Amino acid sequence: MAEVTMEKLVALCKARGIIFPGSEIYGGMGNTWDYGPVGVEIKNNIKRAWWKRFVQESENSFGVDAAILMNSRVWEASGHTTSFSDPKMDCKKCKTRHRADTLIEAHSKGAVNPDLMTNDEMEAYIQEHHVNCPNCGNFDWTPIRTFNLMFETSRGVTDENQNRIYLRPETAQGEFVNFLNVQRTTRAKVPFGIAQIGKAFRNEITPGNFIFRTIEFEQMEHQWFCKEGTDGEYYAEFKEKAMRFLLDLGFKAEHLRFRDHDKLAHYARAACDIQYLYPMGWSELNGIHNRTDYDLSRHQEYSGKTLTYVDPIDNSRYIPYVIEYSIGADRLMLAVLAEAYDEETLENGEVRNVLHFHPAIAAYKAAILPLQKNLAPQAKEIWAKLRTRFSVIYDEAGSIGKRYRRQDEIGTPFSLTVDFDTLENGTVTLRDRDTMQQVRLTPDEAISFIEEKIRF
Ligand code: GAP
Repeated sequence: MAEVTMEKLVALCKARGIIFPGSEIYGGMGNTWDYGPVGVEIKNNIKRAWWKRFVQESENSFGVDAAILMNSRVWEASGHTTSFSDPKMDCKKCKTRHRADTLIEAHSKGAVNPDLMTNDEMEAYIQEHHVNCPNCGNFDWTPIRTFNLMFETSRGVTDENQNRIYLRPETAQGEFVNFLNVQRTTRAKVPFGIAQIGKAFRNEITPGNFIFRTIEFEQMEHQWFCKEGTDGEYYAEFKEKAMRFLLDLGFKAEHLRFRDHDKLAHYARAACDIQYLYPMGWSELNGIHNRTDYDLSRHQEYSGKTLTYVDPIDNSRYIPYVIEYSIGADRLMLAVLAEAYDEETLENGEVRNVLHFHPAIAAYKAAILPLQKNLAPQAKEIWAKLRTRFSVIYDEAGSIGKRYRRQDEIGTPFSLTVDFDTLENGTVTLRDRDTMQQVRLTPDEAISFIEEKIRF
């Protein structure tokens, strides 16, 4: 199997309309990316699969879509205004800014965990090991300074009437502040969950690993509210569910691992990541945290509104604990692309690039390919019929071999070729992306076959 590199993924994504560099015609805008026609479909399918698994199929989980701009007091309560920062150093020679923890991780090849170090200890490590600037190779650092990661903006129509507000750095707070709204309107009983998919923004230094870490990204977060004493059991359950979701998407078990956090936030009881073996090495894909009753207690304190839950059975009153499961949609997209990417040498010596997605994730479930242009009317009729059921692409340009390759490259699981037998008996050939085997089916049979395969 060919090595999957970030360069290959970036090139494929750009060439095939999956992901383009942001603001490209203006020379780009550091580490922002735009999803193209194929990419937006794949990402929507990833989000749909997650929502189906964690909201639709859950007995007791509910969705929200909260505002990105929230009352600034939210971020005081959550602790983001005071402690959501990265330790950064500037190279005095080339004037680039770097995260001290990332420098140490890269220098020690992951052997040293900077999460366990103070700023003084990080500075000492960088001095002692003579860690050079990765941009210019010099060794001339400023001391470490901490920068808050939240993007600020201001609200108000005149300069005198400005209020500082923030672009949310996580979606989670929208779930916490709506705890009682959701509980009351759904009449949910603890334990229950609130989920959300939405944009988050962080003003962080991005080391350039494509969509792995960006300043604007989407999170898929699920908060499970439960009674103290049951939290350990639910923490274990969410670890298992989070891993099962990835395995069901088609990830190989040997490309995933749990990593327990060595250093816990003062309020947390347990925390771990699931890491994926990305092209640049093992890195966080998602997090699962036992956050105790910290979030709701803080919001109760800062808002002055009681967020206590009253148990309808025994009338006990308590602030629920929270098990948080959080995964970046873009980071999962990168993992899905890396996992699916393959270069296969065919019997005739040709190499085909192929994305072996789960069919539920593929942008188009089928491609309609008339063998010759004069079969276009029949092919377009079949296309019209299929696209009322799922997303289908039509392609009549170039040789049939080239058209198969184009579909393989974007991961279309089935190609339906309309040929002269179609005129005779109404059947088409259905080619499987992975095995390249072909069978003849009527369009109705093809619909049933494909609908069965794309179920997640
Ligand atoms: N509410 C908890 C929270 O936000 P986090 O570990 O900071 O925790 C959760 O983020 C997930 O969001 C990460 O595991 C990752 O998948 C994604 N994520 C975080 N920062 C990101 C960034 N700058 N770019 C892309 N994805 C990011």
